[in-house]
Amino acid sequence: MSFLTIIVATDKQGGIGINNSLPWHLPEDLAHFKRSTSGHAIIMGRKTFDSIGRALPNRRNIVVTRNSDWAHDGVEAVTSLQAAQELLTEDRAFIIGGAQIYQQALSLADQLIITEIQEDFTCDAFFPKIDPEKWEETNRESHCSEKNRLNYAFVTYKKK
Ligand SMILES: NC(=O)c1ccc[n+]([C@@H]2O[C@H](COP(=O)([O-])OP(=O)(O)OC[C@H]3O[C@@H](n4cnc5c(N)ncnc54)[C@H](OP(=O)(O)O)[C@@H]3O)[C@@H](O)[C@H]2O)c1
Repeated sequence: MSFLTIIVATDKQGGIGINNSLPWHLPEDLAHFKRSTSGHAIIMGRKTFDSIGRALPNRRNIVVTRNSDWAHDGVEAVTSLQAAQELLTEDRAFIIGGAQIYQQALSLADQLIITEIQEDFTCDAFFPKIDPEKWEETNRESHCSEKNRLNYAFVTYKKK
């Protein structure tokens, strides 16, 4: 079984998206996402893939969709999260969203890497509540964005 990490950026209310895109522009978080996921498999919902629009380089791209005809260059498509997990031969894989996939993957994941942005944004997609009985914070790095003065932290949670 691969070690499964959920990676996500959230606002203060757990918001993660609006109109199938990100509510904020935080280049430091995009760089952190690239650093964290490069060289690994990434699993995403079809809507998140649409919002990115292409397979991400240097990563094995796996897209979950109920449409068995769906296909895209550079992507392996599967019809369930379980099927995605069964494809994995790597030591590590990342669940990269969106809301539907995070909701279903939370019970399967071993680790959460969350960029907690200390602001409120208008969102229509949310990350599920993290149960402190099940998840333990193990690392926190606080930062302030040079570009737009947003305060944020890279936070790691391990499953208890
Ligand atoms: N802040 C962040 O870190 C972050 C990260 C990623 C995404 N996002 C945001 O999240 C939002 C998108 O989230 P979302 O919840 O709307 O969509 P999503 O989770 O990305 O994708 C949903 C789609 O995944 C497929 N799916 C879901 N469950 C499935 C299952 N059990 N079996 C087979 N297929 C399944 C379906 O595709 P079909 O309809 O094709 O069947 C469904 O429509 C966007 O706003 C995006 O920007 C934010």
